Amino acid sequence: MQLREVVGRRRSVRFLRPYQPVEMEKIQRMLEAARLASHWGNVQSLRAVVVIREQVPSDVLEALFAPVAGFQIKLAPVVIVWYLDTAAVDEQGDRLRELLAAGALGFGPKKSEALEEKLIPFFDSIREGLKQPGLGEVDCGQGIAQATLMAFEQGLGTCCLGTPKAQELKGTLGLPDTARVLLLQTVGYPAESPEAGGQRPRQPFEKLFHLNRFGNPFPRSDDVVEELTEDGMFTAPAPQPYREAELDYLKEALGLKGHGLF
Ligand SMILES: Cc1cc2nc3c(=O)[nH]c(=O)nc-3n(C[C@H](O)[C@H](O)[C@H](O)COP(=O)(O)O)c2cc1C
Repeated sequence: MQLREVVGRRRSVRFLRPYQPVEMEKIQRMLEAARLASHWGNVQSLRAVVVIREQVPSDVLEALFAPVAGFQIKLAPVVIVWYLDTAAVDEQGDRLRELLAAGALGFGPKKSEALEEKLIPFFDSIREGLKQPGLGEVDCGQGIAQATLMAFEQGLGTCCLGTPKAQELKGTLGLPDTARVLLLQTVGYPAESPEAGGQRPRQPFEKLFHLNRFGNPFPRSDDVVEELTEDGMFTAPAPQPYREAELDYLKEALGLKGHGLF
């Protein structure tokens, strides 16, 4: 599958087959994709605990449940708990030295001195600020996005879920004090059709993106839209005509009576 098609097919799949385990190799490929994502200063603060529903004790499962994610956690054979470890920022000097040695940072004969005398001391002086929510979350998001695309390329479905129980989860999983839980990602084989109701609504392109200055919409070429449609990145918009019937069917088949939206 081309990247364009994977991007187009990726959507939040809330209905997973509870009875079909996910191969560990497929989860590993997701983690490998996350590991390769960019991070400022090559700090690599994205971490995860992979929870296999069949293997975990009930206290871990209980800590995953939250009001807005109930049935999804119930169905998912795998939940990846993604977190950011701010302790990674303390090792940033070493990450920069590795980048320099790899030829991926700076140029000229004095680059090593510039790194030791200027860049590292500069980052040291703002270290605590760099641990605050911000750029690190953006970078972790890139890693999670790469893992998500890898999941779809392998025929899996996933849904990202926020959790109001981050502190409880941190304690139950035994995460270090320096960890910040980012989100839970359910992973499994889709119980719904691959379209999952069709492509989800998005705000108009022109409203989101600007050229040179705010208020001047980035020009959207119809030819590019046509090309991406042909390549499978744009697909039929949701809802498909049979979506409500599909949802009724899924509710019955998966025993979700009484769950409503969540
Ligand atoms: C960071 C993040 C957190 C989310 N949290 C939840 C959640 O708590 N519950 C839920 O049902 N969906 C959650 N979602 C899924 C979004 O609702 C979904 O992405 C959105 O409706 C657009 O659908 P799409 O992902 O299929 O394009 C979350 C998505 C992201 C990226």
